[in-house]
Amino acid sequence: MNIGDITVNTSFAMSQYLASRDGLSANAVMAVQDRVNVTAEDILQSAANNRMGFLSVLDDTDMVRAIQSLAQKYPAARYSDILVLGIGGSALGTRAIHQALAAQARSKARLFVLDNIDAALFSATLQQVNLKKTLVVAVSKSGETIETMAQVFLLINDFKKALGVKSLGRHFVFITTPDSGALSRLAQKYAIPVLAIPRSLGGRYSVLSPVGLFPASLMGIPVQEFLEGGRKVRDSFVKNKGLNVGEAAAIYYLMYRQLNKNIMIFMPYSSQLMDFTEWIAQLWAESLGKKHSRDGKEIYTGSTPVRALGVTDQHSQLQLYKEGPADKLITFLEIARTAIKEKKIIPVPPVDVEFKNLFGKTLDMLLHAEMNATKMSLINSSRPSITISLPVLTPKTLGELFVFFELLVVFTGYLHQINPFDQPGVEEGKRILHQLLQ
Ligand code: PA5
Repeated sequence: MNIGDITVNTSFAMSQYLASRDGLSANAVMAVQDRVNVTAEDILQSAANNRMGFLSVLDDTDMVRAIQSLAQKYPAARYSDILVLGIGGSALGTRAIHQALAAQARSKARLFVLDNIDAALFSATLQQVNLKKTLVVAVSKSGETIETMAQVFLLINDFKKALGVKSLGRHFVFITTPDSGALSRLAQKYAIPVLAIPRSLGGRYSVLSPVGLFPASLMGIPVQEFLEGGRKVRDSFVKNKGLNVGEAAAIYYLMYRQLNKNIMIFMPYSSQLMDFTEWIAQLWAESLGKKHSRDGKEIYTGSTPVRALGVTDQHSQLQLYKEGPADKLITFLEIARTAIKEKKIIPVPPVDVEFKNLFGKTLDMLLHAEMNATKMSLINSSRPSITISLPVLTPKTLGELFVFFELLVVFTGYLHQINPFDQPGVEEGKRILHQLLQ
């Protein structure tokens, strides 16, 4: 099926290719069609009433103007290093964008995302930057998260000491909920510019807001293209009455519910999408791992996301996927065309005859052949897979991929009858940490 420029191929999850223990029959899919229809209507209705914040934000032109006009104030010539502080939904989208599109960035500024609070990483990063030419972008929806605040405090004190208190307004930007939380109070006190995170956006659904788009704008990536891509997927979803994403969500739902595939492997055949799978893993785990159903019953549901990389993990985890327990569904992520101009491989004597099948191939051709070989090999062991393909990796298609996965996760969550927007388990850990530190 097609959703915008994204193609989702679920054939290798169906029973014509797999043993009945591992593949879904057309009847099994038909049996949940009523439920899929009702869920699609539910999501479309919420979207029409602006209750799906991650879809509404795609039309926010004021937000785009605010991001672009603030980003212009920090040219790479004066701000050669950008430190993004944040964690979870406040960092993973930026990491995904940075890794996927670094080669297309027009700015020469270096960007570092400090999400984990790791003393070695923090100090090694600080040693690489010159504070006079550094912009710190602190991202926190609550404005209170302890890991982010700890790093903000360390850096505010460093800047105060090195460049004076007045420098804070020139070297910090906060992305947070305006008029609430500690970041907001610091911004008022030290005249630090603030970009607002819309209240309707949960952390892990916020990448296409200032959270991900301001760092992208500092990288010199045209942010309106992400939103254009996002709208393309949303419009395709609406035009198809939700049933294109619904068809994919039904497969993920049934794989877990009926065939006990409780491990979801996300395996891009692209090093540029590896951090994207970190973003998916959070979206998947925090949205779908739930103790309670929407009507309050204890259900303890959720499949475990695992990140893998093609082709690297063919030489590592694939053995387990192929011959270990039959509890996995593999999602391949593929970029059909690389933007790189590649040289052809010419095997060298005396081993040129042995490697003659490499003659004239490119690395990208080899990569795709390896992915297809892996899929075939998994089918031979009756292991199901889904392939999600992008024609090419650009800000627009990455925007499409973000919104596609957000819709997929919300749809799958509703099929499981859970709330995909809350995270009570994470909140409880935060509360206990504050008590322990007292
Ligand atoms: O998805 C979520 O809500 C979380 O992962 C948060 O993004 C994370 O805990 C950081 O929270 P905050 O943005 O408030 O600092």
